[in-house]
Amino acid sequence: MQSLRHRLRHWTGRADAFAPEPGLEAIYRDLFLRELKLLGEEDRFFPTGGAANYSLLYLILRIGADFRPTSVLDVGAGQSSLLWAMLQRRGLVGEVLTLENDPDWGERIAAQVTHEVLVTPLASRTVGKREVTTYDWSAARAGRRFDVVLCDGPRGTPRHSRGGVLAMLDDLPHDFALILDDAERDGEQDTVGAIHARLQADRVDYGVGVVRAAKTQVLFAGGRFLPATFL
Ligand SMILES: C[S@@+](CC[C@H](N)C(=O)[O-])C[C@H]1O[C@@H](n2cnc3c(N)ncnc32)[C@H](O)[C@@H]1O
Repeated sequence: MQSLRHRLRHWTGRADAFAPEPGLEAIYRDLFLRELKLLGEEDRFFPTGGAANYSLLYLILRIGADFRPTSVLDVGAGQSSLLWAMLQRRGLVGEVLTLENDPDWGERIAAQVTHEVLVTPLASRTVGKREVTTYDWSAARAGRRFDVVLCDGPRGTPRHSRGGVLAMLDDLPHDFALILDDAERDGEQDTVGAIHARLQADRVDYGVGVVRAAKTQVLFAGGRFLPATFL
């Protein structure tokens, strides 16, 4: 099996496919603001600190507007949750569920959105063959399937960061998009590699896209979401 890093190097011609490109943040900001304006929405977002940066906000907006997902799982509450809520209000996305571990932060975001913010404390759980500190994924799933999963929580760890998200690969729909934020970090790259290995082992037909600005997002997609890897 080809490693993801090797595959990305082949596609992009770059050895540092995950390196951020901070100079592009202003470009994604312009694109995000332009699309927001076209929707007739005000810019009330704060893409600062640990929050979603402009390239992630851009990706969410494009996926909502161009692909109209039926069910979204937003992992890690914040600016992303506010944007999914806006897209839902405009009828561009169907169900949205935000998964959060911090009750106070979850409550603050829940007060600003109309969809459910599910707070589950982090606990040590077995996902695949690995023991990870993560959310209660079965409570998040609860008989639901999500065609778009955005993983931007919990707070990162030095290795196998946010590895719990692999639990969402157990029942992957044919049409799916899985976005991992903060892919410039070593811990997230472990998880990006693990997702790639798992999709290959499961013989899933999928593509990979990388968006780089102040932070790096990696997007795995299949079925009707495949063109999203070129956004
Ligand atoms: C990277 S942040 C999630 C960011 C979110 N997806 C966004 O777009 O802004 C990961 C976690 O950090 C915590 N967090 C983020 N912002 C916070 C804040 N302003 N105050 C307290 N906790 C915060 C939350 O527990 C959150 O799930």
